[in-house]
Amino acid sequence: MCEDILTKIISHPDAVNQEEVAAVLSDEEITPKLFSKADEIRRKYLGKDVYFRGIIEFSNYCRNNCLYCGIRGGNSVVQRYRMTPDEIVSRAEIILNEGIKTVVLQSGEDPFYTTDMIGEIVSRIKNLGMTITLSIGERDFYEYRYWKDLGADRYLMRHETADESLYAQLHPGDHFETRKAHLLELKRLWYEVGAGSMVGLPGQDDIALAKDILFTYQLDADMVGIGPFIPHPDTPLKDSAGGSLEKTLKMVALTRLFLPDANIPATTALGSISPQGRQMALQCGANVIMPNFTPSPYRAQYALYPNKICIMENDKACGKCSKLLVQNAGYEVSESHGYRRRIAKAHE
Ligand code: 5AD
Ligand code: FES
Repeated sequence: MCEDILTKIISHPDAVNQEEVAAVLSDEEITPKLFSKADEIRRKYLGKDVYFRGIIEFSNYCRNNCLYCGIRGGNSVVQRYRMTPDEIVSRAEIILNEGIKTVVLQSGEDPFYTTDMIGEIVSRIKNLGMTITLSIGERDFYEYRYWKDLGADRYLMRHETADESLYAQLHPGDHFETRKAHLLELKRLWYEVGAGSMVGLPGQDDIALAKDILFTYQLDADMVGIGPFIPHPDTPLKDSAGGSLEKTLKMVALTRLFLPDANIPATTALGSISPQGRQMALQCGANVIMPNFTPSPYRAQYALYPNKICIMENDKACGKCSKLLVQNAGYEVSESHGYRRRIAKAHE
């Protein structure tokens, strides 16, 4: 029966409902079939290419208090840092020298970086000929527009969970509707928009996960980042269980079936719960990898969750390491800017 659902997702995704997606998620026997279908579709539309994005985590200050997150404002143990615009731009140059043409600028929600400061950083990195993804949380709509006009190409802001009551529980004072409105505005401004979610949050069942899949499909997300929830010892969720490798991979594979041409990263969190996590994600639908270029000593301080990989590495090692990982998994390193390769009528 679940096999029929997979066929339906591929041929008529609009007709698939939450219960059907949840049925695939809870069926363990379907997993090998789901993974091979996802890889088949990925190869059909995107070949073996894996896109690279170098990430710079430039500030771990955050005004929010997300219950799961290690850099939540309420965590007084974490040592905070901010990189200067010069430091950020010189890291972008290092990324470019590694042959990677896209940079992701990520931080907590840190109002210290004004509209103009972010604008200046965007302009300077654009002048290097690079593609820019911003991942700095919810900002004012006029700012999104201003940075787009200056050349920002993409905006990454996971929706975290599309289950409204879970979203409200995990994000004090915030609502899923607000997050959705921001994502829609970014789409409207013609950013390439990255959404995505965590798997294994406390209280999240397969129906909640199905909502995540259907939300990113309905948004027509250009990129979807999916990682396991990993409990952080200095957060209120320290005693919760984390997300599993298998369920997270199933979410990746299902996302590939619904969005054949979207960019789906093999996330660092997956690599952090299992040594083979990122390779396995590439083999069941993922086509992007985001090597870490945050300089020491800041890198270790950007601890959203514990046991994050790459902390002890030389701070320029991840580019080369990720290239080997991609090749070992049987795929090819793409040197392109990695825009979404839109397929007309992908589902026909
Ligand atoms: N475990 C896994 N992922 C986390 N993130 C934040 N905290 C955790 C955690 N404890 C994810 C969120 C955020 C992204 C940058 O990192 O989904 O959007
Ligand atoms: Fe960072 Fe391998 S990707 S050390």
